[in-house]
Amino acid sequence: MTPKRNTVPSIRAMKGTRRIGMVTAYDYPSGRLADAAGADVILVGDSLGMVVLGYPDTLSVTVEDMLHHTRAVARGAVQTSLIVGDMPYLSYHVSVEESVRNAGRFIQAGAHAVKVEGGKPSRIKTIQAILDAEIPVMGHIGLTPQSVNALGGFRLQGKNNDDARRLIDEAIALAQAGCFAIVLEMVPSELAAIITERINIPTIGIGAGPHCDGQVLVWHDILGLYDGHTPKFVRRYANVGADMQSAIGQYLADVREGRFPDDATEAYHTANDEELKRIYGAAGVALDVPPKALN
Ligand code: KIV
Repeated sequence: MTPKRNTVPSIRAMKGTRRIGMVTAYDYPSGRLADAAGADVILVGDSLGMVVLGYPDTLSVTVEDMLHHTRAVARGAVQTSLIVGDMPYLSYHVSVEESVRNAGRFIQAGAHAVKVEGGKPSRIKTIQAILDAEIPVMGHIGLTPQSVNALGGFRLQGKNNDDARRLIDEAIALAQAGCFAIVLEMVPSELAAIITERINIPTIGIGAGPHCDGQVLVWHDILGLYDGHTPKFVRRYANVGADMQSAIGQYLADVREGRFPDDATEAYHTANDEELKRIYGAAGVALDVPPKALN
């Protein structure tokens, strides 16, 4: 029997039942592999900007960039994973109408839901309008990378009581607005535990400790493919970057040393060998094609 695709209600229903495994993906192969590995949710994250496009932060990522990559992930992840498209900076900040239209473009690109950062009252209004257009929304609070300039860096959030209280209020507001899950990024484990207990939708942690209903990590961090700063909450499960570099290095050495391609196993041959040599292989046969003859 073909396994069924996770849905927004099925992910929501996992709260209190089993932990949710979410991972980012950015293209056809990562979408296909994450799906085949059994990811409950695949996030086409705007971390794309840093780990795929080489920007120092996520702020330069555009809706067009995100849609291009969402389409590729959707072509790869065709089995069970729910696909969430991350709305990039400026795509939901200007007006409610523009935000709804941009969110809809993600759905048309193959996402099943969108993720929006922040939980202040004006953001809740925008999220309600997106939900009103039948587009499921995943919230994201704590360290919200699109606010890196306002926050003064990629740092732990909710450290003092006032900030902790604000984050609890935002989580409750997002849940009451109708979000189906909330990412908690870089907040103390104890605060994540309180938020997880206080709301009736799943929390998905990243640098938020083990008490969340699920966890998310960035594809390149899990696999050892990113050479930028790696925060302490990342667990690296492979060193694929080093393997890739070594494989490409071996290929280049084989080319330079004449070991690739092998004429017996990695090349095509013609039955016309003798004739070809007889006609064209003899010294003195003019092989230069005058440019005119190409027209
Ligand atoms: O863009 C992203 O990858 C994210 C996750 C880290 C939650 O927002």
